[in-house]
Amino acid sequence: MKTIVMTGGTRGIGYGMAKAFLARSCNVAISGRTPEAVAQALARLADPGPAERILGVPCDVRDFAQVQGLWERCRDHFGQIDIWINNAGTGGEHGKIWEASPESARQVVETNLLGTIFGSQVAVRGMLDQGGSDLYLMEGGRDSPDCCAGGCPATWDGHHGSGYRPIPGPPPGLGTREKGVQHHCRYC
Ligand SMILES: NC(=O)c1ccc[n+]([C@@H]2O[C@H](COP(=O)([O-])OP(=O)(O)OC[C@H]3O[C@@H](n4cnc5c(N)ncnc54)[C@H](OP(=O)(O)O)[C@@H]3O)[C@@H](O)[C@H]2O)c1
Repeated sequence: MKTIVMTGGTRGIGYGMAKAFLARSCNVAISGRTPEAVAQALARLADPGPAERILGVPCDVRDFAQVQGLWERCRDHFGQIDIWINNAGTGGEHGKIWEASPESARQVVETNLLGTIFGSQVAVRGMLDQGGSDLYLMEGGRDSPDCCAGGCPATWDGHHGSGYRPIPGPPPGLGTREKGVQHHCRYC
């Protein structure tokens, strides 16, 4: 039985993935910024459940300590984490960029970029400790035909989370395949 942990998951794609994983007999952990949203999502997922395969942990991905806490809580609860999905993200305010508030812009960058980096740092360290697993990233765009063609050569500078063009080159910080950690972006 595989254990899947995702950032976000109180609604949207993450919530849908949680339901799908549960239906495939996986353990699933979801998260979100507030205990209330997590509890509401958990209650919906618990029917049909089964509840014992679901865990909900409040976690704001903009805070490294909370992301580390998410890993540790899920590992302690389920024993091992097989798949970590950096799913939490936001598009910010709808409308024109020059009309968006500074706080909205900050939230987009911190959630999508910093949150994805924190999630990857925490997950890869934990995976290396436990001897492998899979890491998925929901952010980013396929701006280059090179992307993922030879093992996702994009770098943090351009690809994951920022929406800018990926920078081709050797796999950077996520070049951990040889140690059993597989990295997938949403186009892999
Ligand atoms: N929808 C699309 O067409 C699309 C396309 C490509 C990629 N994506 C990416 O796929 C992911 C999911 O998209 P979606 O459409 O499902 O988004 P969504 O419906 O807006 O859901 C976002 C999820 O992320 C959580 N979240 C937001 N900020 C967070 C934070 N700071 N810390 C922790 N959790 C946070 C939200 O939980 P709370 O609000 O409860 O905190 C919610 O569960 C995002 O990363 C998005 O960029 C979406």
